[in-house]
Amino acid sequence: MSGLDPESAKQEAAAAALELVRPGMRLGLGTGSTAAHFIALLGKKVAQGLDVLGVPTSERSRAQAEALGIPLATLDDAPGLDMTIDGADEFDPQLRLIKGGGGALLREKIVAAASQRMIVVADSSKAVARLGKFPLPVEVSTFGLEATRRLIGREAAAVGCRGSIDLRKTSEGRAFVSDSGNYIVDCAFGLIPAPEDLATRLNAIPGVVEHGLFLGFATAVIMGGPKGIEIYGSLS
Ligand code: 5RP
Repeated sequence: MSGLDPESAKQEAAAAALELVRPGMRLGLGTGSTAAHFIALLGKKVAQGLDVLGVPTSERSRAQAEALGIPLATLDDAPGLDMTIDGADEFDPQLRLIKGGGGALLREKIVAAASQRMIVVADSSKAVARLGKFPLPVEVSTFGLEATRRLIGREAAAVGCRGSIDLRKTSEGRAFVSDSGNYIVDCAFGLIPAPEDLATRLNAIPGVVEHGLFLGFATAVIMGGPKGIEIYGSLS
């Protein structure tokens, strides 16, 4: 069973998620290191003859899945998906999530919304009593960045969230640009007292393309950790 190291825990969670896959399923393929474990395992099953169709949530996941020979489609070809398997930066007891650490939150949310089920795969470090230790990623239009940043600060403060709102940079120091051509700002608010209220306010800002609060999306979390696999929510 699971070792203590996060990488083994992520792999165990991915392996447990693979058991939910049935022939003929249309699957959303998440982004990040845990989702990459799932895609790698799925690729092996496809090589053994499993028939599935994948819709990747990022160019990174597309490249990985393509290299493994997983048949792929877009949401235009397959607008309704059976299940999405994706990671998360945090999840709380109500299965509310913070996502976007890997910069793919917009496509991840679009794909999750098109799926009957969203199964989150994670190691135990992602479980929190309350969301917000992980800085909340918010995808914003490149046009009007500073004005949007100011509005995010104002609207967040109105629901008790204060902290730095930093433009995400690449390791070379350039502004990070998402697969959809937008910037991401990381909001270090600390604990978020009312995620739904914050989400409503962020959604109302024109320059906000999407935010990393996934509320009401995850149907289950498969968590790998020192106690082995733990399931939250319903897998069916
Ligand atoms: C990418 C995400 C990832 O799912 C999240 O960052 C978790 O990544 P990892 O599995 O590498 O810990 O939201 O945008």
